[in-house]
Amino acid sequence: MEVRPIRTDFITESLRQNRFWTQIMSEHALFIREGLPCGETALINEAIELQRLFAQLKARADQTPRDQAAVCALNRDVIQALDRIIAFKSVVLKRMITCQMGGFNYPLLIDHIRREAIRFRTNLEKLNNNIQTPIAELALEEEIFWLRIMGDHARFIAHLLDPSERPLVKRATQFGKDFETLRLQGLDLQSMLVPRDFENHLLPADLMGGPLPPGFDNLPEPFVIPRLRRFNEEVIEATMGIRDFKAAALELIEACKVLSLISPLLASHVLREAEMALGDLEMVNRELNKMKVE
Ligand SMILES: [Fe+2]
Ligand SMILES: [Fe+2]
Repeated sequence: MEVRPIRTDFITESLRQNRFWTQIMSEHALFIREGLPCGETALINEAIELQRLFAQLKARADQTPRDQAAVCALNRDVIQALDRIIAFKSVVLKRMITCQMGGFNYPLLIDHIRREAIRFRTNLEKLNNNIQTPIAELALEEEIFWLRIMGDHARFIAHLLDPSERPLVKRATQFGKDFETLRLQGLDLQSMLVPRDFENHLLPADLMGGPLPPGFDNLPEPFVIPRLRRFNEEVIEATMGIRDFKAAALELIEACKVLSLISPLLASHVLREAEMALGDLEMVNRELNKMKVE
């Protein structure tokens, strides 16, 4: 097998991922803890531990020198911590959706933050194992991931605003619908341009990552068309829209000018995720523009 050169931005990209997502993971542990029933001491203690662990990893990521070995070790340790927080989120989610535990977090919120953790972990594994995804495939994966996340945020905001805040609830709901429409378009483009992604999703989950069985690798390679570039621009535009909405919401929440169950930290958390989405989508945009189109 041909050995690809390690990506030139391995250090920059690893640090960008870690400096952002470790902070986010620490906040997830806090959000889970705040929503647990107060008698769940074992889960509460694990949440406190995880919050501390990821805060330490964030401090370490901020100080990690631009050195390949140090960055590689950081990635490995963060992956280990991610295994732990993903398992924790899975336990909390399962107990909630089997009605063995109540609390004040929506099940979809726990699923959402577990998706964020799984994707972060995959990004680090891809960096450490030098796995590079073809650009058409990467573009659609990033877009579909972030469209779902941004749509979830819109619906969480709609459901956590006080019902009396009618115009804001309406706007948040509309954002949710717009992101859903875009995500469906993304899925259509994905089966047109990256049919192997579609086919892989039809295989049992435990085959993922292994070599495909015979007969499963005959579909065309992913390719870029002008419509995909336009789609990326549409996703960026929609994300800028919700970023501005979240920034306005954060201001209102901080000034105590709106009735809701949204803490200033949660409002700033979803705003920072919109900024990260824009960073990721703009990287994709630059790569798409370098590519020849069919
Ligand atoms: Fe998050
Ligand atoms: Fe999120």
